[in-house]
Amino acid sequence: MSSESETAVSNGAASNGTDEPRESLSVVDNRTGRAYELPITDGTIKSLDLRKIKVSEDDFGLMGYDPAFTNTASTRSSVTFIDGDVGILEYRGYPIEQLAERSTYLEVAYLLIHGELPTKPQLDQWTHDITIHTFVHENLKSFLQGFRYDAHPMGMLLSSVGALSTFYPEANQIRDAENINIQTIRLIAKMPTLAAFSYRHIRGMPYVYPDNDLSYAGNFLSMIYKVAELKYQPDPRLERALDILFILHADHEQNCSTSAVRAVGSSQVDPYSAIAAGVAALYGPLHGGANEAVLRMLRRIEKVENVPDFIEGVKKGEEKLMGFGHRVYKNFDPRATIIKKACDDVFEVTGVNPLLAIAKELEKTALEDEYFISRKLYPNVDFYSGLIYEALGLPVEMFPVMFAIPRTSGWIAQWRELLGDTEQKIARPRQIYTGERSLDYISLSQR
Ligand code: SDX
Repeated sequence: MSSESETAVSNGAASNGTDEPRESLSVVDNRTGRAYELPITDGTIKSLDLRKIKVSEDDFGLMGYDPAFTNTASTRSSVTFIDGDVGILEYRGYPIEQLAERSTYLEVAYLLIHGELPTKPQLDQWTHDITIHTFVHENLKSFLQGFRYDAHPMGMLLSSVGALSTFYPEANQIRDAENINIQTIRLIAKMPTLAAFSYRHIRGMPYVYPDNDLSYAGNFLSMIYKVAELKYQPDPRLERALDILFILHADHEQNCSTSAVRAVGSSQVDPYSAIAAGVAALYGPLHGGANEAVLRMLRRIEKVENVPDFIEGVKKGEEKLMGFGHRVYKNFDPRATIIKKACDDVFEVTGVNPLLAIAKELEKTALEDEYFISRKLYPNVDFYSGLIYEALGLPVEMFPVMFAIPRTSGWIAQWRELLGDTEQKIARPRQIYTGERSLDYISLSQR
């Protein structure tokens, strides 16, 4: 920080010779009386600029303190835009509502990763490449068979994605564009296969190999549901509803699991290990595990008449209304609105899920209650999605897995963006140390 900029500010003359206000913060350190000018760019100040604010030459300088990064931008990104106040979600600038209505998951995955909608030849090639990479090494079957019969499929997915890194040791060549592209294709292609194999394992059923005649969503349904029939034919309404769910879950800017992928990826590890970190973060009930928690909550409420008592318990802080609230959306989550509509399409085929009435009563009651209104708590993506997964016959343990499959394309898009970002380096936050200092070792007999 040059002395003239300090001097300039110290006279309150934070000017640049024009009437235009400077894009900067003028701050005074009351410990020293010294004034500083911190440049503002893109609505942020660089945390590193705070380090110049010291009380003495050997002072480390100031840091920002932001547990859970509630007000910290960790990166520049052009993948996904969210305006939480007005419920806007756009992938590469395209509104989620238009993509859900007119696109397909594979086309959206291409958009997220390559930054533009594919031409017909590009989409055909992309679809072909992914379709022919849906198989996994046979050893992964025996790896999965090592899990207990009642293993949580998210734990199986987390492990098997990480295990893939051992089958493609060249994946750690992260500066090789061709290598990045083939690993991108493998990850998107193989996630449904690993997910379906995990499901068949906990069901005690033989694994179903991918059917390359089917669409991405149709093939997943086949690997889940095919039994003795020679060829599984997915119901097109279920296939489309699942494809829409995949589109809605594909990316969501710097959420917990994407931040995990970026942090792990910043060490320059292979993409399978970075994505495994994303699966691990998504597993948590406050994140992707919320859709499983919502269904368990609805089952526990059991009937509509119990909703008022349950809501009172939430307001007393006894538990959270799972599927409600969001760090960014302080209005409706546009994905929840679309999923609620998709419920109708699915229930046309499967019959209405009786828990829907409880979910709707919960939503109605909460949206009229000051506790939720004052905290800006609205249904999020997880509130209704579980009703569809249950109607599709999936067990609640599979719900977070259904989130991880499509989010893989978003995680990869963000990871690839990280690799190309010259501002990034290995993630290594600081801390405020609160422990003891310089203690002398005490021998065991003296303790
Ligand atoms: C996802 O980040 C993303 O983009 C995530 C995601 C994605 O696509 O990647 O959108 C997917 O993870 C959606 C969220 C799924 N999680 C849940 O539905 C779990 C229930 N929701 C909460 O745990 C919570 O709302 C979070 C975790 C989603 C957000 O938490 P924040 O932003 O840290 O908010 P907070 O915990 O500070 O809550 C603020 C207040 C608190 O009350 P007070 O302490 O001020 O009195 O709101 C209350 C909280 O207790 N609150 C809730 C609540 N969520 C927040 N009270 C009851 N029920 C809830 N669900």
